[in-house]
Amino acid sequence: MIEWDDKYSVGISRIDDEHKQFIDIINKAVATNEQSDDPEELKEVLHQITMYAINHFSTEENYMIEFNYPEYQYHKEEHHDFSKKVIEYCERVNAGDSQFANEILEYLKRWLINHIQVTDRKYIDCFIRNGLK
Ligand code: FEO
Repeated sequence: MIEWDDKYSVGISRIDDEHKQFIDIINKAVATNEQSDDPEELKEVLHQITMYAINHFSTEENYMIEFNYPEYQYHKEEHHDFSKKVIEYCERVNAGDSQFANEILEYLKRWLINHIQVTDRKYIDCFIRNGLK
């Protein structure tokens, strides 16, 4: 499980709220995996992660475009790589391979925490300079 910590804050309330919800969904996936052997439940929660990620990434990317953020392209590629990986996982689970659930969840947790603390932090000055708080 990931617990929200102030060190994950980017200081922009809308983005922090979305990151908190993102963490909640990943925690829900971890709990589902611990409590159930039903691949349908894992599929469902992976689907929710995919949908949530797409929405959240588009929040950030829309701001980046609006504010002419110089690292937009690089940031967008990181988002894209994550989405691609989650879709691959969904396809493997859909094909009946749910033995690697721990691997998926470790990847999701590691990616999210690293992305929030490294890549997302880089846009803070730009977003705040453009009026977000
Ligand atoms: Fe908060 Fe770049 O994802």
